[in-house]
Amino acid sequence: MIIKDSFSKFTNISKFSGCIAFFTNEKLEITHLKKYLNFSDHKNLTVLLKNKSKNKKKGLLSFDLNPNQKIILIPLKKNQKSNETEKLGAKLTDFLKSEGAEVTHIVSDTISVNLKPDAIYEFLHGMRLKSYSFDRYKSKKESNSLKVNIISSKKFNKKIYDKFKAIELGVNYTKDLVSEPGNILHPDEYAKRLTQLKKIGLKVSVYNEKQLKKMGCNALVGVGQGSIRGSYLVTLEWRGKKSNSKPLAFVGKGVCFDTGGISLKPARFMEDMTYDMAGSAVVVGLMKNLALRKSKVNAVGVVGLVENMPGGNAQRPGDIVKSYSGKTIEVLNTDAEGRLVLADAITFTEKKFKPSLIVDLATLTGAIVVALGSEYAGLFSNNDNLSKQIHEAGEKVEEKAWRLPLHSNYDKLMNSKNADMQNINYVGGAGSTTAAQFLQRFILNKTPWAHLDIAGMAFSKYAGALNSSGATGYGVRLLNKFIEDNYE
Ligand code: BES
Ligand code: MN
Ligand code: ZN
Repeated sequence: MIIKDSFSKFTNISKFSGCIAFFTNEKLEITHLKKYLNFSDHKNLTVLLKNKSKNKKKGLLSFDLNPNQKIILIPLKKNQKSNETEKLGAKLTDFLKSEGAEVTHIVSDTISVNLKPDAIYEFLHGMRLKSYSFDRYKSKKESNSLKVNIISSKKFNKKIYDKFKAIELGVNYTKDLVSEPGNILHPDEYAKRLTQLKKIGLKVSVYNEKQLKKMGCNALVGVGQGSIRGSYLVTLEWRGKKSNSKPLAFVGKGVCFDTGGISLKPARFMEDMTYDMAGSAVVVGLMKNLALRKSKVNAVGVVGLVENMPGGNAQRPGDIVKSYSGKTIEVLNTDAEGRLVLADAITFTEKKFKPSLIVDLATLTGAIVVALGSEYAGLFSNNDNLSKQIHEAGEKVEEKAWRLPLHSNYDKLMNSKNADMQNINYVGGAGSTTAAQFLQRFILNKTPWAHLDIAGMAFSKYAGALNSSGATGYGVRLLNKFIEDNYE
């Protein structure tokens, strides 16, 4: 559903047709609506409400006032959290979608029964996040458009509105990238799309395969060598601070499709591996958001873009590659490719940008889905403070992350007889930790670092509170909050 919003002053409710939404307190009291409804309508509504509230329905209530007007009551808790207000907005979107509504008026002033007036922007944010759908490849578009008219006596707050809009555009861009199938969004196309972000003020640099080989990024290049597409490292820089202070760095796994390579995956659910570039898409969506809202922070996004295919030139199990860091890796399983891409991307980021911290995101292991399902991302970090900041931001926006251990004792599981390390653990167990422990070896200068394993979070067959089914955009709002709360 495409939401087109407008803001206007209150005139007279009888002029509005379609859905008209009011906020109330939790008890669904409506005395404060006398101001907006004529005497008989208010009385009718009181009667309808009496009958309906007997079956104690939670959430929104709707009433047909007459054939042209449907009243929607939205109960608010006292000083409820932003997150709950957003979720109520999402509920309204769902309701309007199921009604096939084309127009809705929201009487914004009534939000003051229990919240500050600006909470209306949070409500609208939730409405719009929930309205996303990906129907680019459907001849018949499902997404009708919905006119949302916010009726308010307050001055339109452009600053808050624009901030939320930037987050939405970032999240939706991430969702678009994740939703694209592997035949469309291969590394060549992905790199090309990223160069277009120059338009919004990001500095974009693309390193192609030839350059990467020359630089010694053989771990990354090795993953892509079985594909007819190129392999890339793309950096996106945002300078929002006047000072030349060290940037925050965000690194993402961008495996446009993961067949497993020569260590081929089974056919069932292999199609899911089209979202194996979600980590990179989060980094891109986050950077887009920072640029759009002109965030007062210095940040850099780095993504490694490859396609993991079993071609004639594909990497073999047992191959040994020398990474950008100089460390050698024995590739025992070509399906443990994400860590190979990230290894080079992380060392490159640390060396080139000297960031104050690095957060990487990747759909890295199936094991994290076993451990945490689709409720929490796995969080691994060499720094307690950084870990705490990410955890707290996640709780606030309900993109949750749970810390799991790193420990040098796990290192021996990844040591190789023939090289400095191997890319899988043959003993078994702790699949997500050993992967994280592998990544940690590519932080060379003790930079505070956190790794988010989002394999269980990036995509969902079911709708969530703020998402329709499909790509979730998990991570963009989390990292935006992390930056907003700690670095702006
Ligand atoms: N992209 C997968 C991980 C994954 C699994 C993401 C399920 C999303 C959903 C990753 O490249 C992979 O194949 N990991 C292997 C590692 C193993 C070979 C050590 C895995 O988890 O099985
Ligand atoms: Mn894999
Ligand atoms: Zn993968």
